[in-house]
Amino acid sequence: MNGKRNVLRVKKAKNFGGEISVPGDKSISHRAIMFASISNGKCRVDGFLPSQDCLSTVEAMRNLGVQVDFLEETKYGPSQLLVHGRGILLNKPDGDIDCGNSGTTMRLLSGVLAGQKFPSRLIGDESLSKRPMRRIIKPLELMGADVTATGDNFSAPLKINGSELGAIRYDLPVASAQVKSAILLAGLHAEGTTTVIEPSPTRDHTEKMLDFFQVKTSRSSYNEISIDGGQVLESRDIIVPGDISSAAFWLVCASAFQGSKLTIKNVGLNPSRNGILKILTRMGAYVSESIDTTGGGEEIGNVSVEGVGLKGVEIGGDIVPNVIDEIPIIAVAGALAEGQTVIKDASELRVKESDRIASVVKNLKLMGAFVEETSDGMVIDGGRPLKGTKLDSHGDHRIAMAFAIAGLFAEGETIIENSNCIAISYPNFKEHLDKLLSKNRGSEEQPIPVIKSLNIGNDKD
Ligand code: S3P
Repeated sequence: MNGKRNVLRVKKAKNFGGEISVPGDKSISHRAIMFASISNGKCRVDGFLPSQDCLSTVEAMRNLGVQVDFLEETKYGPSQLLVHGRGILLNKPDGDIDCGNSGTTMRLLSGVLAGQKFPSRLIGDESLSKRPMRRIIKPLELMGADVTATGDNFSAPLKINGSELGAIRYDLPVASAQVKSAILLAGLHAEGTTTVIEPSPTRDHTEKMLDFFQVKTSRSSYNEISIDGGQVLESRDIIVPGDISSAAFWLVCASAFQGSKLTIKNVGLNPSRNGILKILTRMGAYVSESIDTTGGGEEIGNVSVEGVGLKGVEIGGDIVPNVIDEIPIIAVAGALAEGQTVIKDASELRVKESDRIASVVKNLKLMGAFVEETSDGMVIDGGRPLKGTKLDSHGDHRIAMAFAIAGLFAEGETIIENSNCIAISYPNFKEHLDKLLSKNRGSEEQPIPVIKSLNIGNDKD
């Protein structure tokens, strides 16, 4: 990699705002490729996120014998693909399946591979090889799977010997959409009804997309999801909405920037992912949203925010899984807000692409913010002036982007080292940053019509 391009430099912003469409949702792009691959025919995927993580899923499915054609490519990679689904039974891979940095690829694919008729081995990069895998191994073993973590502390590489699976009823010890999804996917191979019980609701893209592919899942009460084995995924075309986790960087920036006006178009507004809008509203931002269509069972629409300055807030409990990927940028919002922001019940952040509690606290302190680390979050005394400095991304895309936004509010220059990791989820981040900072930004096209408005301000967390 070019050393120069591995550093992102930002200065205090004079303007911020405009209109933008963020790239496709990462969680939905992974699932679109995986589920289309195990469907019974051809599926076109539009709006695919051409990021390193999602391309790991494409390559994994190709390695398992699935033909995936790139129909349309952007300068960052493919955006429209044709997946030739081959049904639930895949081919023995040629060598290891490399999941790169992607926990979603490794964990969801384990559920697909557990019931195959061949052995496979899943590997990942240094960060993925440190992440906890016992959380998927335990329930899969209870289903009769043969999965061994050959790394330290139940981590990757994972060896999976395909086996006959049986249905289970399983109480998830941690709220994790990846673990829930792995079990539901393994449940397709199992005889009987597999049920997962969540401690708190997590993103429901798997359930929504399976339903879209005509596989019935049922939510029998608030947090119990069931699937019957033996169902066939009927092939169909999928439209991936924009990623609200990517939009979150711009939404926070505009909310904290006095006088800013920003519209994000065609972004996913699934209620299990839109907690960032509720939090920004509670922090005092003026947020409005409109839902236009649902693509592949997912809500999609436009969101606008106006910057009025923010106030501190407490975040904990059931909303945490909803905004788990947004917490680094929410912490930056807390540092920019007047008053105290408390983030709690978020210890899962310690096992993400980096220990996100430690990396956020370290970088905020280096910028001069008042922040105290706790075991499951942090306490930020906001409103102190931030100063630009050299910061490390800790190899974590969301840390790099969160601190690029912090740098827009800091005196002097902020230098984010190891920023190439941004391509894990948002390859055109820099291009969008430049566009939103430019004075001559224009409107891209007409906004989509409003057919439904949500009163998000009154929702309880
Ligand atoms: C994801 C679920 C979350 C999230 C990750 C994507 C998914 O992880 O942090 O970025 O696509 O299911 P966990 O399931 O580990 O909470």
